[in-house]
This record gives sequence, C-alpha cells and structure tokens, in this order.
Amino acid sequence: MKHLRLAILAVPLFIATAAAAQNQVATLRNNAPLAEEGEATQIPGIVNTDIRQVRNYPDQPPLIPHKTDNYQVDLNSNKCLTCHSRTAVEVSQAPMISVTHFMNREGQTLGAVSPRRYFCNQCHVVQTNARPLVENEFVDIDRVIDYVNAQQSGAD
Ligand code: HEC
Ligand code: HEC
Repeated sequence: MKHLRLAILAVPLFIATAAAAQNQVATLRNNAPLAEEGEATQIPGIVNTDIRQVRNYPDQPPLIPHKTDNYQVDLNSNKCLTCHSRTAVEVSQAPMISVTHFMNREGQTLGAVSPRRYFCNQCHVVQTNARPLVENEFVDIDRVIDYVNAQQSGAD
C-alpha cells in the first residue's frame, strides 16, 4: 500500500519535471513562449560587393557577389544569362558561364546551355552577413596539404 501511494505521488512530479525540461530546449524562437508570436529576427543583408569570393575547392559553384532580387529564371526567360551567356559578356563584362555549363551528362559539350545548368540558383547562392549559428571548422585544402607535408617531413 505504501509503495502504491509513493508511485501515485511520483507521477505528477515526473510530469512537472518534463515540462520544466521542455522550457529549456534551445530553439530559434528567441525564447518566445509557444503560444505567443515572438519578435521577428532581422533578415540578414546580402553581400553585394562585386568582389568574387574565394572557392573552397576547385569544383565549388562560386558564390554570387551581387544581389539577385527579382532576377527571374523560368521556362521563358533567364535573367542571369542576359549577362553571363557567351554572347552577353562583351557588353556586361560579367564572367562567362564555364564550359561545364554546356555539357550534357555524357560530358559532351553542346552549343547552348545544358538544361542541367539552366536553373542557376540550384547551385549558385548569394552570401549574407548572417552570424553563423554554429562555429565553422572548415579547413582549406591548402592547409590540409601543408599539414600532411609537415607530418611527413617530421617522420623522415
Ligand atoms: C546585370 C548583369 C548581371 C546579371 C543579370 C547577373 N549577373 Fe552575375 N555577375 C555579373 C558581373 C558583372 C559579375 C562580376 C562580379 C561583379 O561585378 O559583381 C558577376 C558575377 C557572378 C558570379 C561570380 C563568378 C565568380 O567567378 O566568382 C556568379 C556565380 C554569378 N554572377 C551568378 C549569377 C546568377 C546566378 C545570376 C542570376 C540569378 C546573375 N549572376 C545575374 C553580372 C550579372
Ligand atoms: C548543377 C550546378 C550548376 C548550375 C545549375 C549552374 N552552375 Fe554555374 N557553376 C557550377 C560549378 C560547379 C562551377 C565551378 C566549376 C565549373 O566551372 O564548372 C560554376 C561556375 C560558374 C561561373 C564561373 C565561371 C568561371 O569560368 O569562372 C559562373 C559565372 C556561373 N557558374 C554562372 C552560372 C549561371 C549564370 C548559371 C545559370 C544559367 C549557372 N551558373 C548554373 C555549377 C552550376
């Protein structure tokens, strides 16, 4: 009987502890209670420096160093190609899409932009000045090579 009473007492205690733990969960809602609308976080600004960014590896689609607001890309028109296509660059002075953008999946170079590379924003993104949510520990390949070389010369 004593045991049963203890068990009954323990149930509400368990529920209270679970509810307290739930309030501690880290969220992106800036600690606004679930039933209330929190203050909206600011939309980060887009980096619009026109300075081409470093690529972290040779095959990386380069970041877009300019704004792309209202640049339409659909079946009928592609705003990006009005500056980046082979024929447009003389006027726009934008870098031309590279030869991989003309290749089909067999690696054959076509005369026009390959459908696989038509929707530019599938691979290319703008950079924002948002604060990273987690620390970025990415190490550039040049530093990895330096490290490996240093280890090897140390071993000799
Ligand atoms: C009005 C002309 C224009 C339009 C439209 C345009 N760009 Fe650009 N883009 C440029 C120019 C010029 C540069 C060279 C850097 C600069 O001046 O911003 C550039 C740079 C880039 C780069 C960097 C290339 C590198 O080697 O680092 C990428 C990627 C890019 N644009 C993608 C796009 C995409 C995707 C769109 C469509 C959403 C687009 N651009 C629309 C003119 C344009
Ligand atoms: C499937 C992914 C993909 C799509 C879609 C794509 N790109 Fe790229 N783009 C890349 C990659 C990867 C690179 C870097 C390596 C290379 O040149 O292939 C690149 C490179 C570029 C460069 C730099 C070229 C150079 O010689 O430095 C420009 C400019 C560019 N893309 C513009 C565009 C535009 C404009 C579109 C849309 C018409 C587009 N890309 C669609 C993946 C893509």
